[in-house]
Amino acid sequence: MPVAKRDSAARSVLYSDGMTAPAPLLAVEDLHLHYVSGGRVVRAVDGVSFTIERRGEAVGIVGESGSGKTSLAVALMRLLPKNVVRFDGSIRLEGQDIRALSEDEFRREIRWRRIAMVFQGAMNVLNPVLKIGDQIAEPLQLDGRLSKQAIRSRVNELLVRVGLSPEFATRYPHELSGGQKQRVVLAMALVLDPDVLILDEPTSALDVSVQAQIMNLLKDLKQDPGISMIFITHDIGLASDLCDHIAVAYAGWHAEYGPAERVLLEPRHPYARLLLASLPRLRATTPPQPMPGEPPDLTNPPAGCRFHPRCPYRFAPCDTDVPPPIPIGDGGHARCWLNDPGVAGDLYLAHLKEPAGVSHD
Ligand SMILES: Nc1ncnc2c1ncn2[C@@H]1O[C@H](COP(=O)(O)OP(=O)(O)OP(=O)(O)O)[C@@H](O)[C@H]1O
Ligand code: SF4
Ligand SMILES: [Mg+2]
Repeated sequence: MPVAKRDSAARSVLYSDGMTAPAPLLAVEDLHLHYVSGGRVVRAVDGVSFTIERRGEAVGIVGESGSGKTSLAVALMRLLPKNVVRFDGSIRLEGQDIRALSEDEFRREIRWRRIAMVFQGAMNVLNPVLKIGDQIAEPLQLDGRLSKQAIRSRVNELLVRVGLSPEFATRYPHELSGGQKQRVVLAMALVLDPDVLILDEPTSALDVSVQAQIMNLLKDLKQDPGISMIFITHDIGLASDLCDHIAVAYAGWHAEYGPAERVLLEPRHPYARLLLASLPRLRATTPPQPMPGEPPDLTNPPAGCRFHPRCPYRFAPCDTDVPPPIPIGDGGHARCWLNDPGVAGDLYLAHLKEPAGVSHD
């Protein structure tokens, strides 16, 4: 029994020829989130754009530690720490500009109800003295619209949905394995029936077989009830298993974004290519290539292209001119001058002539 929901009549976009199309479920454009720390500005999210067109789609956000993945999630949930000094750009949910909502409106209408999140390490912070069922039920109790009996059956329904029996409602967290705890935090995020679920490294603390079970559960939830996901991970292989689109995060940017298959097989940004080349592969004839250099300091990122100190393909404009997100033609983009024939000239897509990309073996 789903909880009572808002009127979800999808808004639409009006084209110049008078035709309309449904607005994307979630459209993020030129989003910025900067912190101040020790008197210096940390540009954790610095002009990020991506779209989830419809229900049941998943976007993977892949990148090194410190590239701004969790900060993006924090911005979408608007759970901003006090030291945020810049938060702007556009976040549209079915066409509605939810960044323009007041904090009170956002809390009442959006956070947890329409966009929910499983935090990095969430399974380790379940309340040890509260039964699982009570922890899942808490938002419904605060909401106050359902009877005790209805809340109990909603909790049981959610436990079953995440692959646990209703009997788990009466257990305490210490009586659960890591995989079972992760299922519980998923049930907690699903309790208000959100449209978009953000998962921040949901399987990184789990062994490979439990990881596979959780990934299968996420695939099921994509299908039914058709939850859209933002899946944050270091592991591009995991992201490719679940996601329709992939964004490769680098130093507060999305260096590359596009359909998962194209990003994996024909990456257009050198960082994405090197990331893929650094992965061990079963039947590869060449060994994995280590990624050169170190991630930059986000309080003082390199001028021009943020990847230029590590990039084997850099050329004249790279250390002075900031590459914008250059459209690829499949709805995606790459922030690399090699993708602009007007700038790159003979070097246009030169890096694509070298072998890269992953096979699925
Ligand atoms: N509250 C904060 N105040 C100041 N700086 C912060 C804050 N939160 C994150 N940062 C900084 O912002 C940058 C991005 O951090 P973020 O946690 O978003 O990275 P991440 O990609 O999620 O990393 P990881 O893979 O390790 O989880 C880092 O330089 C981090 O130190
Ligand atoms: S813009 Fe230049 S430095 Fe940056 S990734 Fe492209 S080639 Fe490399
Ligand atoms: Mg993180």
